[in-house]
Amino acid sequence: MCGIVGTIGEKALRTYLIEGLRSLEYRGYDSAGTSFLSNGEVTTYRLPGRVSDLDQLVPTSIEANAGIGHTRWATHGEPNFSNAHPHQSNKGWFTLVHNGVINNFRFLKRKLEQKGMTFASDTDTEVIVNLMEFHYLQGLTPLRAIKKTIEKLEGSYALAILFKEEPNRIYFAKLHSPLVIGKGEKTHYLASDYLPMLAYAQTFYIVTDYQYGYIEAQHIIVKHLDKNEEIPIRFHTTDLTIEDIGLNGYPHYMLKEIEEAPEVIQRLSYNYFDGNQFLFDDVLLEKIHQADQLIFLACGTSYHAALVGRRYFEEIGKTCRVYVASEFAYYPEVKGQKPLFIVISQSGETADLIRCVQLIKQRGNALLTITNTKGSSLDRASDFSLLLYAGMEIAVASTKAYIAQVGLLAILRAALIHNNDVMTDLVGVIQAMKSVIDSRQDIETMAQAIMHAPSAFFLGRGLDYDVALEASLKLKEITYIHSEALPGGELKHGPIALIAKNVPVIAFISDPITAAAIRSNLEEVRARGANIFTISNLALAKDEDNFITPNVKVYLSPLVKVIVAQYLSYYAALHLQRDIDKPRNLAKSVTVE
Ligand code: G6P
Repeated sequence: MCGIVGTIGEKALRTYLIEGLRSLEYRGYDSAGTSFLSNGEVTTYRLPGRVSDLDQLVPTSIEANAGIGHTRWATHGEPNFSNAHPHQSNKGWFTLVHNGVINNFRFLKRKLEQKGMTFASDTDTEVIVNLMEFHYLQGLTPLRAIKKTIEKLEGSYALAILFKEEPNRIYFAKLHSPLVIGKGEKTHYLASDYLPMLAYAQTFYIVTDYQYGYIEAQHIIVKHLDKNEEIPIRFHTTDLTIEDIGLNGYPHYMLKEIEEAPEVIQRLSYNYFDGNQFLFDDVLLEKIHQADQLIFLACGTSYHAALVGRRYFEEIGKTCRVYVASEFAYYPEVKGQKPLFIVISQSGETADLIRCVQLIKQRGNALLTITNTKGSSLDRASDFSLLLYAGMEIAVASTKAYIAQVGLLAILRAALIHNNDVMTDLVGVIQAMKSVIDSRQDIETMAQAIMHAPSAFFLGRGLDYDVALEASLKLKEITYIHSEALPGGELKHGPIALIAKNVPVIAFISDPITAAAIRSNLEEVRARGANIFTISNLALAKDEDNFITPNVKVYLSPLVKVIVAQYLSYYAALHLQRDIDKPRNLAKSVTVE
């Protein structure tokens, strides 16, 4: 997590840094800071709080050759002034911003303290900057001091570094945290992703692990830790545009992204089906056929999409397992001779997954990644990569990425069994989604009825249970209401003890096989005074249902029901006046374990 920016040679330096940080706030927003380098002087502004507070603090008249900036998601040390980045070395030679976590920082800190260095913060970052100075003062050039330092770091980092006596240069280094370089006219930019640079740079270079070097206004050097020679750079363009990242009239990114769902399915359809046939690599399809086990790994919302995917592939005879990545990373369990790992991630940068991928590679197993971010660490690490084409997702709570993940898994399943019906089924989904979007006011009414409850329960069976899990996560994330998701039948095995008068119980009903069973579970809680809300579909509707979605094929019902769940949380958060796009304590791209 954390977002970093840097630029050199840019006239609108302050604007680039501040606006760039604003666009990276989805990565963390506990504190913010910038440093400006001019004529051997580094001036730093930093504070706990948001980029909007930093904007007030940094003088509008400030001018400099080079600048770096940071927006923080706290890992080491609380979000206060002294832990805010940029951090500076004891004698002021180096100033840097860091995204990532240094696992061996305590050991390194102790060593530096023994050498007389002092520390003003609780961060791991301050160790990096002081270690650089330590090596520099032993007679190394700044570049060599940086190399020697990063050789000693265990963990993850994307760094943008100012060296006091080189106002025309910004050094950088990267391992397991993302870093992109942008090339403008007579300028270069650094950032954690493309967003800050879209209005400035025309072409880009994605820095890969173990690379380090520097940018100057018209010059760039990239090296690899294990090689001496310079790495030749090939810049590329991106399809992202400024319009993609604007609010386009919406009050929140989350609302915009929920309502992009029909487009997301449409885009998936034309990227993976040409009107006659599916557009998947035959080698991948063969690999899936050959695999004796499909192992899905994911986190958060992507994990909930994987749960749906497992049902799709089990239904066509594959043996599947689904693991939360952070669990699998430490308790890997692989049965079978020919497993295929399927890693699902919106960002493609989630640290828990990167750790799993290292294990998969060590084992020599095949890896398919499904991500929304071309060129991301996971995308690049894969043997097979499928992109979600959902467009940039900016709200911290994931919405349209889930739609794309489930949609893609449905299309992939259909390709394996050569069944084109999925494409017609998805057209039905698009229409149903639009109808839910048109009726969002009814969901807003429901949200207002649950928003003051301290706790809520979501029920479902089968695919509806998978949706209930995602609904519950969404509610927690953006309203801070405690909630649980349960398979309808489990309620009576314990959790029903928590049901008291007016506790909201929200049930999803999409499958004729379990509709009667879930309705009888609801009677059990009704008898105990619960405040019941049912979200069914036309085919299974009852008069008392609170929201009725159009019919779609049952296997695709999560794509429609989840939109109801997303709106429900959105409107509850809206009326509770929560910070919807930036909920407390969360970050979108979780690049620490
Ligand atoms: C964070 C985000 C969630 C997201 C999860 C997995 O926790 O707040 O919205 O679902 O990471 O992220 P990924 O990018 O791997 O899908």
